[in-house]
Amino acid sequence: MNRVHHLRAAGSSLVLDARGTAVPTVLHWGADLGALTDRQLEDLADVQVPAVTASSIDVPLHATLVPSAADGWPGLSGLAGWRPEAASGGADRRPALRHARTVATSGTLRVELTDPDAGLRVVVALALGGHGVLESRTSVTNLGTTPYLLERVVSSLPLPARATEILDLSGRWSGERRPQRSSLRDGTWSRETRHGRPGHDAPFVTVTGTSGFAFRTGEVWALHHAWSGDAAVRVERLATGHTLTGAGELWGPGDVVLEPGETYESPRTLACWSDRGLDGVSERFHRWVRGRPGRATRPRPVTLNTWEAVYFAHDLDRLRALADAAARAGVERFVLDDGWFRGRRDDRRGLGDWTVDRDVWPDGLHPLIRHVTGLGMEFGLWVEPEMVNLDSEVARRHPEWVLRGAPGRDPVGWRHQQVLDLANPDAYAHVRDALVALLDEYPVASLKWDQNRDVIDAPSRPQVLATRRLMDELRARFPALEIESCSSGGGKVDLDVLDRADRVWASDTNDALERQSIQRWTGLLVPPELVGSHVGDTRSHTTGRTHDLAVRLVTATFGHSGIEADLTRASPEVLDALARWVRTVKDVRRLVSTGTTVRADRSDDCWVHGLVAPDASEAIYAVVTTSSSPAAVPSPLLLPGLDPRQTYRVERVDLAGPPMVVGDVPPPWWTGGGAELPGSVLAEVGLPLPPLAPEQATLIRVRVR
Ligand code: GLA
Repeated sequence: MNRVHHLRAAGSSLVLDARGTAVPTVLHWGADLGALTDRQLEDLADVQVPAVTASSIDVPLHATLVPSAADGWPGLSGLAGWRPEAASGGADRRPALRHARTVATSGTLRVELTDPDAGLRVVVALALGGHGVLESRTSVTNLGTTPYLLERVVSSLPLPARATEILDLSGRWSGERRPQRSSLRDGTWSRETRHGRPGHDAPFVTVTGTSGFAFRTGEVWALHHAWSGDAAVRVERLATGHTLTGAGELWGPGDVVLEPGETYESPRTLACWSDRGLDGVSERFHRWVRGRPGRATRPRPVTLNTWEAVYFAHDLDRLRALADAAARAGVERFVLDDGWFRGRRDDRRGLGDWTVDRDVWPDGLHPLIRHVTGLGMEFGLWVEPEMVNLDSEVARRHPEWVLRGAPGRDPVGWRHQQVLDLANPDAYAHVRDALVALLDEYPVASLKWDQNRDVIDAPSRPQVLATRRLMDELRARFPALEIESCSSGGGKVDLDVLDRADRVWASDTNDALERQSIQRWTGLLVPPELVGSHVGDTRSHTTGRTHDLAVRLVTATFGHSGIEADLTRASPEVLDALARWVRTVKDVRRLVSTGTTVRADRSDDCWVHGLVAPDASEAIYAVVTTSSSPAAVPSPLLLPGLDPRQTYRVERVDLAGPPMVVGDVPPPWWTGGGAELPGSVLAEVGLPLPPLAPEQATLIRVRVR
């Protein structure tokens, strides 16, 4: 019905003025406005009319759902395209959409817009779920008789003027998701990614908010574009006083052609509002992710991954010994990483030939898998289905399957590999059949699904869609199969791939300190149990930094926990400590899978983050010093997120010895058996922290008394 609509959920509201034939406008997206009558909604809409200022268009300027030059919008239009064989006198290039109808069902609005002259129908679908996450998606249908070349489709939402700061993420290989922050000025903050995957530098979540917003405070509006391919995310502030945040796919000229009658469906944009800072954003997104259908719900199995243990040096006896040590430590899933398939002795050859290398594995993977499963562990396997090495049987036989931007033009190599054109039905069938044959032959519980190269040479959309289809086919055929999304570490972490994957590999670095930061910011969107986190070697393979075992253990507790080190060379003491830690992981993993992520706002370099049970009956916290304390006596340890009315017992969990304390100070409170205090005291007054040495970490467990 064409009226003013009000969506409400989890303390937030969205009001859409969908009266008349103008493209509807979001009048409010933010705090819950309470139950409003139709009359009150009409009144609200009637007064929300921007002034017509001097030297401007003669009608009030609205930031509509699909802003357009035809309506006088001076910013980026939400829809752009054209017809090469235009018969519409240019109407195709500047669509003038009109509102046909809006259909409301519980929590959703379907806004239908048309431009008969341009021959287009646009549908904007909005849904505000119980978690408070607003999903929006735009479809465009070509109603004309000639092809329509889409240039841009953006789903946008308005922001209020008090959103004056912006934070999003960037990064690089082994340094993913680094926050960057600035004030918002007139102009466009535009992040365009052209990797054929979100990339290590993906904006990830774009947060705008009130001045000084932090983890626990401030009003914020956050947006994630759920798409594993090229994308543009923007915040545009106009001198007119309007600010819009929006996202859409990024295409080259002619990449997306709508034939007559064809419809383009945009990826989802997921957005949420919170008046409880970034923790409120995480809470909403985590609920959304945890509630998605078809996700693995059983306790996350403690994993051993062979990559940093053996790299390409696959040897049955060595891997059996590694499996023995893993099983002794309590590991539940053994993942054989890269190096098992035909010709794959290094990273220069073999990709695309997905059969077991008979030189290294004369009896196939059976002897190893029998050993692993005999020890009570499940088996996982690394694959990289979207890629090919030119030095492979498949590339020699089918050079035409290599994705090329232009016929006969060899794309630049990247880790000595190329993209296999999965939009080619024969190439697709080759990979699918090879994977099906593997999964038919071997009891594989999980695939670590890698993508180590950007798709830069040709449009990435067909590749993204084909990969989705391949994952869907495999999951339909092997319903128990789990998938980990990996992409040179954390190059593909998004809520598109997480429709099909059960965890992400957040980064190739197992350096605990780097991981603290990567996990903290990955956790803005993805709940910890979906983020693989492994205990690496004492000396990190990626940074050369050395960390105490305790620091590495604490860090890997807050995720889908695992180990990635050569345990055959570990001392009995280390193996014992690992076994103790695995018991702790199993003890707290339900909390990790269901808890609310909390991060304390502190002014020093001591990071305090935790997971609090939904009923606040228990919690775990990590106290991590990223550098030395600026003050001789650090500020107290405040524990956020507990129930102020409950009394809690607070203890340090000893994983591998106490953290190093600087100076000859009296034993801290945790050596005397812990403390017992009300949640209000723990949150507001806290517990004293000793002067901890840099790069230390401690696990704190809190339970209602
Ligand atoms: C990528 C992954 C690593 C490992 C290697 C194997 O870099 O991120 O974890 O699987 O590939 O080649």
